[in-house]
Amino acid sequence: MCGIVGYIGDAEAMPILLDGLRKLEYRGYDSAGIAVLSEGMVSVARRQGKLERLAGEMQANPLLGRVGIGHTCWATHGVPSDTNAHPHADCTGRIVVVHNGIIENYLSLRERLEVDGHVFTSETDTEVLAHLIESRFIGDLYDAVRQSLLEVVGSYAVVVLCRDIPDTLVAARLHSPLILGHGRGEQFVASDVPALLAYTRQVTYLQNGEIAVVTREGARVTRLDGTEIRREPATIAWDAAAAEKGGYKHFMLKEIHEQPAVIAETLRGRMGEDRAHVHLPGLKLSPDELRKITKVLVIACGTAYHAGFVGKYAFESLARVPVEIDVASELRYRTPIVDEHTLALVISQSGETADTLAAMRDAKEHGAHVLAVTNVVGSSVDRDADSILYTYAGPEIAVASTKAYTTQLMTLYQVALYLAEVRGTLDDDARARFIEALQRLPEQMATVLETEPLVKKLAEAFCGVHDTLYLGRGVNFPTALEGALKLKEISYIHAEGYAAGEMKHGPIALITPQCPTVAIAVPGGVYEKMLSNIKEVKARQGHVIAVGATDDPDLRKYADDIIPIPRTAELFTPVLAIVPLQLFSYYCADTLGLDIDQPRNLAKSVTVE
Ligand code: M6R
Repeated sequence: MCGIVGYIGDAEAMPILLDGLRKLEYRGYDSAGIAVLSEGMVSVARRQGKLERLAGEMQANPLLGRVGIGHTCWATHGVPSDTNAHPHADCTGRIVVVHNGIIENYLSLRERLEVDGHVFTSETDTEVLAHLIESRFIGDLYDAVRQSLLEVVGSYAVVVLCRDIPDTLVAARLHSPLILGHGRGEQFVASDVPALLAYTRQVTYLQNGEIAVVTREGARVTRLDGTEIRREPATIAWDAAAAEKGGYKHFMLKEIHEQPAVIAETLRGRMGEDRAHVHLPGLKLSPDELRKITKVLVIACGTAYHAGFVGKYAFESLARVPVEIDVASELRYRTPIVDEHTLALVISQSGETADTLAAMRDAKEHGAHVLAVTNVVGSSVDRDADSILYTYAGPEIAVASTKAYTTQLMTLYQVALYLAEVRGTLDDDARARFIEALQRLPEQMATVLETEPLVKKLAEAFCGVHDTLYLGRGVNFPTALEGALKLKEISYIHAEGYAAGEMKHGPIALITPQCPTVAIAVPGGVYEKMLSNIKEVKARQGHVIAVGATDDPDLRKYADDIIPIPRTAELFTPVLAIVPLQLFSYYCADTLGLDIDQPRNLAKSVTVE
């Protein structure tokens, strides 16, 4: 996820671009850059690191001009650096591009362009766009961009500037947002509304597959095939402060709502064209080497550990490979049995968690191949791992992890299915059914989000309690742990996550009418057992809030409240079941008036032991 802006008008472009980028920094802050056009020259400034670094330098050496584009980067290809920062230019420096998204076929495009003599200066996917447009440009920028984008596979929002056409910006989008802002004698382009609010409330939302020619007077929009589009601009009613969080009260709520889109993004690019196989180009072990793996060792902390715990069920049941899992802070101080046939699976949103890094290095020293699942390109985990799979969740700003968790789950399911195919542990029909179910999850998750009003009511009713019990079995035991962690960290209500079958061995003593139980009771192998556990709670006057299947009449007989989720393969239910639990903790904390995005004593990334 990155933020892009564009300006064309009679004011100086640089301050407007920097201001817009500031509003979009939540989308990424690995590097930033701007390009400004003046008197037949394109001047570019770009810097690794946060925008303020670039802005500081710009104060001393401003770029002058009334047309420009800008970018704030969440790196996906190539480490964050000055040269990988946008804007990217063609060979001649006359065409410059900013881009948000992923160009999946960039390697083949790059190879072809290099054969044709184009010289690349960065490791990014975006740079191919600049060269592709250069190769098509014979005086008509709109047509050159349009023709180029027809060749691109992937997702993009782009704004293009050309020295030879000084009064025009060309903007286009596919699966990444882009909005045109209309002023008097000036026009704006941005990834998100906050960047526009200081200048205009009249906007046009570009739709997938649309391209716009933007001049001072206005914008002409067509489809990529050239068909004209006529759309009345919309008027934005948001106030600027709320809009920074996309209209949500907190980043956490925004991130919960982003989940259907980001889990879809995690799938995209790793499913084959036939949608029957998983492809993991980031995994650098050959099928032969994967068949020799005798054990997977999961290394992670906190929420990432819970994702790994779900992964254990998926790996063992689909790929029939033993999985050992421990929190990294424990793992690093014992002597696990690790050798060259161990696959060390490191899971970390930030890629900077100290205990995770230490345990990862130990595993590597003992000969394990390290496969990392991370959200942050250029992080320490990214640099030190042997193989990398990115989660593509975009920047997660709230301390309580939500979308990072569900994208980690999606990635782990993909790895499990890939291993199952390579190791021959799942027949083609079963694999096809799992892959189909996996691809339905984004849509199903959007349905789960519709339970928000119900969950909010439950949270308002229960946020006054001091203790809660979260129960789950099988693949949803980790869901109980993660649900309890979410409640603890932002609402400060004590929550005990437990394997439901263990309840009789102690925690049952906690049950009173004042200690509600949250039970995950979805259809599957342990469903009947969960019903028995729920009855045990009820027999002791406990109140049960159950997460269960939409159309489950039995659960209704025993639980006091039911939060319905759609049916899916049992192994995949954690992706759906966690969403109401995230919302429950959010609304408990909100009702209590707590600082949700920055809860006490916590930091987003634990970089010390
Ligand atoms: O960046 P990481 O995924 O390595 O972080 C691990 C934990 O610190 C993190 O998941 C933490 O538990 C979250 N605050 C949970 O919401």
